[in-house]
Parts: sequence; C-alpha cells; structure tokens
Amino acid sequence: MTVSLDQLRRCHFAVDLGAAKTRVYVKGAGLVVDQPSAAAVNTRTGALIAVGDLAEKMTGRTPAYIRVVRPVSGGTVVDIQMAQRMLRHLLGEKLRRALRRRPWLRAAACTPHDADPLAQRATIETLVGLGAKRVELVDTLVAAAVGCGLPVEQPEASMIMVCGAAATQIAVLSLGNIVTAERMPVGGEAVDRAIVQHLRHEHALLLPSQSVRPLQIALSDNGLTSHGPASTEIQGRDVATGLARSVRIDTAAVRVAIQTPLTAVLDGIGKVLRDCPPDLVADLADRGIMMVGGSALLPGLDQMLRQATGMPVHIAERPDICAIQGVGAMLEGRIPQLTFNPLAA
Ligand SMILES: Nc1ncnc2c1ncn2[C@@H]1O[C@H](COP(=O)(O)OP(=O)(O)OP(=O)(O)O)[C@@H](O)[C@H]1O
Ligand SMILES: [Mg+2]
Repeated sequence: MTVSLDQLRRCHFAVDLGAAKTRVYVKGAGLVVDQPSAAAVNTRTGALIAVGDLAEKMTGRTPAYIRVVRPVSGGTVVDIQMAQRMLRHLLGEKLRRALRRRPWLRAAACTPHDADPLAQRATIETLVGLGAKRVELVDTLVAAAVGCGLPVEQPEASMIMVCGAAATQIAVLSLGNIVTAERMPVGGEAVDRAIVQHLRHEHALLLPSQSVRPLQIALSDNGLTSHGPASTEIQGRDVATGLARSVRIDTAAVRVAIQTPLTAVLDGIGKVLRDCPPDLVADLADRGIMMVGGSALLPGLDQMLRQATGMPVHIAERPDICAIQGVGAMLEGRIPQLTFNPLAA
C-alpha cells in the first residue's frame, strides 16, 4: 500500500496506536492526545470507567468487577471495538464534533514496519469506526525519521532505531525510502519483564509494575554497561509469605538480567548493517544511529549501543513523540521534497 505526500496533506488527523501509548495529531491543532493505551471497563455492565492515564493508574488496583484492558498489543490493534471506544474518550466531545464536521474525513495512521495485512486492516477499521472515510497508512520508521529531523530525502544514509514498548524497529533510509529494515518483537515491555523475573527468581520478590522505573533509574548512574551504584533498596511482596518486604539488590546482576532482550536488539542492528550496501554503511559510520521511541530513554541504552557498535549514537530530543510529530509534519505539508515516498510496508 503506497501513500503519497499529497494524499497525506489532505488528511485531517493522524493516529499512532502503540502498545504503551496512543497519540493523536489534529491538523492545525497539533498533538492533542498522548496517553497510555489503556481502558478500565466494568465487567458487569460493559461500561467504560476510565481511559488513558487514569486507567493506567488503576492497573493492578481494581476490584474484581473492573478490568483494565489494553486494546493494542505487540503494535497491533487486537480489540477494534475497545480501541474505538478508547480513542473516542481520549479525543473528547469537542474535538470529535470538530472532526465530524468535515464532509469527507481523512485520517492517517502509523503502522509498524512489516505489519501484516490483518494488522493494517485492524488499524483502518478502528479509524473508520471513528468516522474516517479514508485512511492512509504511514510506516512508523519513516514517520519517526521525519519527526526527529533526519534528512531522509537526501541521497545519503540515515539509520533510525524506533525503541517502542512492544517492538524495536531498525532501518537505514536514503532518498525517502527504506533501504533495509528489521523489526524485533523486543521492547521496553521485555526489559521490564526481565527485571521483574530476575527479582522473582533471585530474591523471591514480586515487584509492583510501578516500581520497575525507579529500579531502572538506580541502574542509570553509569548506564547499563558499567558501574553504577553497587546496590539499591527496593520494596516488594514476598512470594512465599505474601508480606511486604524490602531487599537490597545488586544492580550489576539486574544489568546482566536485561542483557537478553538487549542482545536481540544488537542482533537486529547487525542484520540491518549486513543487508545494507557498503556505500551507505560508510555514511553511517560518521552519522551514526538516531534513537527514538519511549524506550530510547532507558538509562544507558545509548551508551551500550555505542560500545557494541563503535558508531555514534544519538537520542532524539523528544524520542517518544517523534513518529506522530513526523506524520503531523506530513499532514501540515512541512515536508517539501516530493520524491519522498512514505510508504507503509
Ligand atoms: N524514561 C524512561 N525510561 C525508560 N523507559 C521508558 C521511559 N519512558 C518511557 N519508557 C518506555 O517506553 C515504552 C513506551 O514507548 P513508546 O511510547 O514509544 O511505545 P509505543 O509507541 O506505545 O509502543 P510500540 O510502538 O512498540 O507499539 C514503554 O515500554 C516505557 O516503559
Ligand atoms: Mg510506537
């Protein structure tokens, strides 16, 4: 499915439905939604109780009749109806009315690289349910590259790494197109899971999901690779007794535990470079890798990649919103180059 910049310029709004965050850009208004892709539902009545931030806060803290659901999983919409309800609530009545006023509503959506036709259809159906008469799909990799200001339309190589929650996508772009790309089903969620599992196995401690981030920060002093603080104190629940307990955790051991998902990411980089023509690889040695996506903020990840690849590694200014800002720029017509082809898959 190919979409031209002209078609994108006619779109009224753009959506990036991620495993962790849902983002919406409305032409002329900018980024209007940036909230967790979560909805809390009353299982007795089916009523929606909360969406976004509020629903996320409820995770693991609800009574039995309230369930927090995530309509997007692994980068794909898995529950179209719930995704539509969540988006409607996140947009709010005022914006929805403004969009409904358009006689022929057009939407754009980011799709992961290599998304299969079924996943693409699920995204399209979701937006059609919101009233869109036509939906254009844009490859997340291209959108993110545009969003972080890489010179994608130039005849020189740019390497981008989109570190999402469910997946990491890596590509080399030149002349507005993807030269080679890889998508690995490993992202921020896998790193969080590895930390939780480590604590369970080594310390018989169940870690609340909200405590993963503070532990990552404790790891961060000198990055994932070298010597941060030797140990840190963390609160959790004892697996056997069920009682609250705090333990001292050796941060070096946690670093080792998260190596497995990170090695998969390194393998992906190697594969993309091997598939890339030598002239472009020469460009990349100078320009390096641009990291975007929320997980690019994982403390020390950039340093680890620098050490492993020997290439310069940069983190975009607002890595989490690069993809939606990129589609936004295309909607607003701020991308002048017309040879550019933001095709999806
Ligand atoms: N400061 C931070 N430190 C470490 N990780 C972070 C930080 N901020 C966000 N993350 C992680 O980034 C991920 C969310 O990134 P992003 O918003 O790009 O995901 P997404 O677009 O919803 O996912 P996907 O594109 O894979 O469907 C989460 O896994 C979250 O844990
Ligand atoms: Mg994403």
